[in-house]
Amino acid sequence: MTEDSTTLGTDRAVHSDAFVFFGATGDLAAKQIYPALAGLIRDDDWRLPIIGIARHGDLDALRARARESLLAHGIDDADLIDRLQRQLRFIRGSDDDPETFRRLRDELGDARHPLHYLAIPPALFVDVIDLLGSSHCADGARVIVEKPFGRDLADAGRLNTSLHTVFTEDRIFRIDHYLAKEAVMNLLYFRFANRFLDPIWNANHVASVQITMAEAFDVADRGAFYDAAGAIRDVIQNHILQTVSILAMEAPSGHTAEAVRNEQFKVLDSIRPLDAQDVVRGQYEGYRDVPGVAEDSDVETFAALRLWVDTWRWGRVPFYIRAGKCLPVTATEVLVGFKHPPFDVFDEGPGCEDNYLRFRLSPGMSISLGARAKKSGEAMVGEPVELFAHHESPEDIPPYQRLIHDATEGDQILFAREDTVEAAWRIVDPVLDHRVPVLPYERGSWGPAKARDFLPEGDCWHDPKAEPVST
Ligand code: BG6
Repeated sequence: MTEDSTTLGTDRAVHSDAFVFFGATGDLAAKQIYPALAGLIRDDDWRLPIIGIARHGDLDALRARARESLLAHGIDDADLIDRLQRQLRFIRGSDDDPETFRRLRDELGDARHPLHYLAIPPALFVDVIDLLGSSHCADGARVIVEKPFGRDLADAGRLNTSLHTVFTEDRIFRIDHYLAKEAVMNLLYFRFANRFLDPIWNANHVASVQITMAEAFDVADRGAFYDAAGAIRDVIQNHILQTVSILAMEAPSGHTAEAVRNEQFKVLDSIRPLDAQDVVRGQYEGYRDVPGVAEDSDVETFAALRLWVDTWRWGRVPFYIRAGKCLPVTATEVLVGFKHPPFDVFDEGPGCEDNYLRFRLSPGMSISLGARAKKSGEAMVGEPVELFAHHESPEDIPPYQRLIHDATEGDQILFAREDTVEAAWRIVDPVLDHRVPVLPYERGSWGPAKARDFLPEGDCWHDPKAEPVST
């Protein structure tokens, strides 16, 4: 099998033989990477040398940090902690110093296919990529880059150009951890493993699609990061638009990762760049008091958008998107609302959400089919009911564990391709920064009132509940 022929269920031939991560003492390493590496060692008997690079500290400090991270994630298996610690190596050095990379080349020894993970601020990507190339650490290697992938369309283009001077596209793994969530993977599966869905999955039957990504918490200690981003850059350009691409795509023509990613690209490429009138931006009260946030910040902590997918399948079907911090609950749901029956036989008048498919993406995972059924009694009067299937398993592989595993095997299906990332930036580019005024909203509310009026009469936002229950 060649490196280009990844299939939906199988691996590529070349396995990475060393794992290098820049930003070994950073936040992402502690929150995601160490637990993911421990999971790989436990579940896959992963034996790769793990080389951490950071400006400060030494190997003992790194080992202690890894241990703290695992304990903080409830991983207290002493053998496992010990195995991870023994696999760790450490290089102290700065990300822009050629000497760091000479030492990395030596440390890599006989490894021919290292996997480099850039868990560092995006501003440092270009230097690190250049130095990986000039030091030959990139020879035969793969690279993982974290979101945010650039600040806007132009910046993402520059970053892609820089990456391509050193790595070919099949060796670049752009992380969007949403793609590796069990519930998001299930969207792809559910759509194309069930034949009954396709005949109604189009503008003839679907009235609108809604995605709400609500977070009840605030930006906490991420003020500086968040104030340079905002909700549109932080979660809409990536997590939510990737989700839209799966919901709206055509069936992949074949079994390869590229067949899926081609269809995802086509969706994003067909979405109209946003117009200011299709966007409401909000900021929760008190956001400007968060350390790291500018006193006069007009960065959005909430955004509501209306998207148009200009294809034969989705023409004139609005896709409503909402994402924000300090909302009433933490929950992400997709609701595909179907049109009302063509004639109201029982003269009941249409409700907002009579017929729908509701996908709960987190927390928990569920699929519900909303319908009307007759209430018992003499009258032909109905009520809304849900057919509800819920899945939640502690066995689910955490997204970062899955993604590092897949990158090690060269499987790109759960990673964002260059063209989809740029297509997603093209959609949001016209409304980034100050182009739409930001409106205040109360903590614990569903955002500025204007977002409520955003939908036309007869349509209403579906507000997810805290628990994944049937409604
Ligand atoms: C991250 C964002 O990418 O995704 C965060 O930077 C957000 O602001 C997070 O909270 C949501 O991901 P999850 O997996 O916790 O739902």
